[in-house]
Amino acid sequence: MRKILIGTLFGVLLVIVLSAPAFAALPTRVQVNVNDPSPPNASVTFQFSAAPTAGTGSGFSLEYTGDGGAAWIAATPDAGNIAPNYKFTATMVDFKLYYVRIKDNLADGYKYVDVMPPNNHGHANFSDNTDMCKGCHITHNATQAKLLKGTDTKSLCYTCHSTNTTTGSRYDVQQGRVLLGNATLDPATLKYTVTTATWGKTLGGPFGTEATPRLPDQNLWGVGTTVTSRHDIEGTVSLIPGSTKGTPTVGSLNGSYAGNTMTCISCHNGHDNDGNYRILKSKVWSTDTAVTVKAFPKTGAAGETANYVAGFSVYCALCHDKFDVIAGSGRGTQSVYRHAVDVPLTNYYYTGGTLTTSLPLETGDPGYASPQVTCISCHYAHGTVVTGTNPTYEPNGTNNSTMLKRLPNMQVCEDCHKK
Ligand code: HEC
Ligand code: HEC
Ligand code: HEC
Ligand code: HEC
Ligand code: HEC
Ligand code: HEC
Repeated sequence: MRKILIGTLFGVLLVIVLSAPAFAALPTRVQVNVNDPSPPNASVTFQFSAAPTAGTGSGFSLEYTGDGGAAWIAATPDAGNIAPNYKFTATMVDFKLYYVRIKDNLADGYKYVDVMPPNNHGHANFSDNTDMCKGCHITHNATQAKLLKGTDTKSLCYTCHSTNTTTGSRYDVQQGRVLLGNATLDPATLKYTVTTATWGKTLGGPFGTEATPRLPDQNLWGVGTTVTSRHDIEGTVSLIPGSTKGTPTVGSLNGSYAGNTMTCISCHNGHDNDGNYRILKSKVWSTDTAVTVKAFPKTGAAGETANYVAGFSVYCALCHDKFDVIAGSGRGTQSVYRHAVDVPLTNYYYTGGTLTTSLPLETGDPGYASPQVTCISCHYAHGTVVTGTNPTYEPNGTNNSTMLKRLPNMQVCEDCHKK
């Protein structure tokens, strides 16, 4: 019996070792340059240096998708595409999101890079002669740690991601909207001039403006709509619901900043350090095991949608770890029953037919049972405008909130269970 067990274990280990993807040959840094000589089409160049796996057919290929990963198109290798320096060019459409994958022809695994014409990324894939650093850093006279500009993180992020329609990003996270076109970008000042405003909804939902969390100037989420709940940016955070991480202490939730509040970089990196979707952090607390979040957003007529692939439950569980419960609502080691995540709809074992839903599911990497339920099937990540509050059971049962729900009242439940 023991021999069989050891044999099996050895076999499993051997399979893991033999099938381990060889990522080593992929480039660590890719320079992406968006040139926009003839809008609405941009010419995008990719440059990197890397040593490919040796052998017949060695080298790299570069493919891109503008539709959330449904179709991948091969980019053209340039004349300068000679090992170990690689160069590719692709024509892309302004205000459309693209994902690019670079593959070592002889090894498994991809390096992913996102491209957002007419802009350069803003946080990653900078060219050697970039001027972008000064958008966020001051070398000798910075007012914040990490040589950052501004008085706090939120105000720095909001210089480009707020209701001001002429700043350096298509994303206005205050109003939960994304610029879909009809704007021109001045590459020198990084400001947009919006001719006819064409906006769509963001995936994260709106944070709202601070004093009154209202959404004043547009009709996407409803004119004058109030944001009814949100992740409270630089508000007072005493406890994280559904968490064993304890009371946030100075620096624990917000990198190197003073105070125990949650801010944009509690969840996002300043840079694309971890290769995660939306530059999401792979670790929040120093003791965390790094997580991978994978998704491919795409631009639609009414805003952005995403092909969510994998990793959201473990990501949200970096803070709300108690709620990351896999299959069955059994109590397990916890003292209460909880709705499962990372389960396919086919797991539902009551009669009444297979579950169907309009809510987003994760499609899963090959090998996962999919599509599967995850935190953002029911919740927005930033904020929501829905009505219908619930009490907080974790930690105390006294605060009522709309809990970042995607749909009003308990409509998220009916969307799947149809009782
Ligand atoms: C859009 C804003 C933004 C731009 C542009 C930007 N940074 Fe940063 N950078 C940040 C933020 C925010 C942090 C702090 C992240 C944290 O503490 O979690 C940071 C941290 C850093 C750090 C320290 C941590 C690390 O990741 O190594 C370095 C070094 C750095 N930036 C260099 C640069 C350089 C060089 C450029 C230009 C190529 C640049 N940054 C452009 C926002 C930016
Ligand atoms: C100097 C302007 C600028 C500042 C300041 C800035 N960003 Fe950005 N950000 C951009 C640009 C440009 C993009 C690329 C998308 C686009 O075209 O707008 C972007 C994209 C993003 C994305 C989407 C990334 C992706 O790959 O999908 C996130 C998330 C983000 N920013 C978060 C932040 C956070 C958090 C801060 C504050 C630490 C911040 N930004 C500050 C300019 C800025
Ligand atoms: C960096 C830690 C952190 C991460 C990561 C995080 N949260 Fe939170 N979350 C908090 C804190 C702190 C609170 C309580 C304060 C507040 O409501 O802003 C909270 C509150 C909530 C609430 C209750 C809101 C309310 O109105 O009471 C929901 C729902 C929620 N989070 C869902 C999520 C989901 C879904 C994800 C993943 C997309 C996520 N959280 C990721 C820290 C985090
Ligand atoms: C609790 C974690 C959390 C906090 C805090 C947070 N974000 Fe995000 N953010 C996310 C997640 C998760 C997504 C992806 C949502 C999706 O695709 O459903 C996202 C998406 C984004 C995007 C892409 C556009 C969109 O909204 O879908 C931008 C830009 C962004 N965040 C900027 C910010 C800025 C600026 C702040 C601070 C004001 C901030 N975020 C605070 C988790 C967070
Ligand atoms: C995205 C689809 C989806 C949504 C939305 C959804 N459920 Fe479920 N639900 C499932 C699946 C799949 C299972 C089976 C989980 C498993 O395998 O353990 C399940 C299981 C259950 C169970 C049975 C648990 C058990 O142990 O027998 C209950 C009760 C339930 N859900 C209630 C709810 C409520 C209440 C809501 C609204 C907050 C909700 N569900 C929203 C898909 C969904
Ligand atoms: C099937 C839909 C659904 C899924 C999946 C889901 N939630 Fe929720 N969540 C809700 C609803 C509905 C509420 C509010 C009502 C309630 O607690 O009964 C809520 C409440 C919360 C709260 C506030 C809880 C409190 O008692 O203070 C947090 C935090 C939260 N969810 C985080 C998460 C995280 C993290 C995940 C993924 C691991 C997740 N949720 C997955 C539907 C869902």
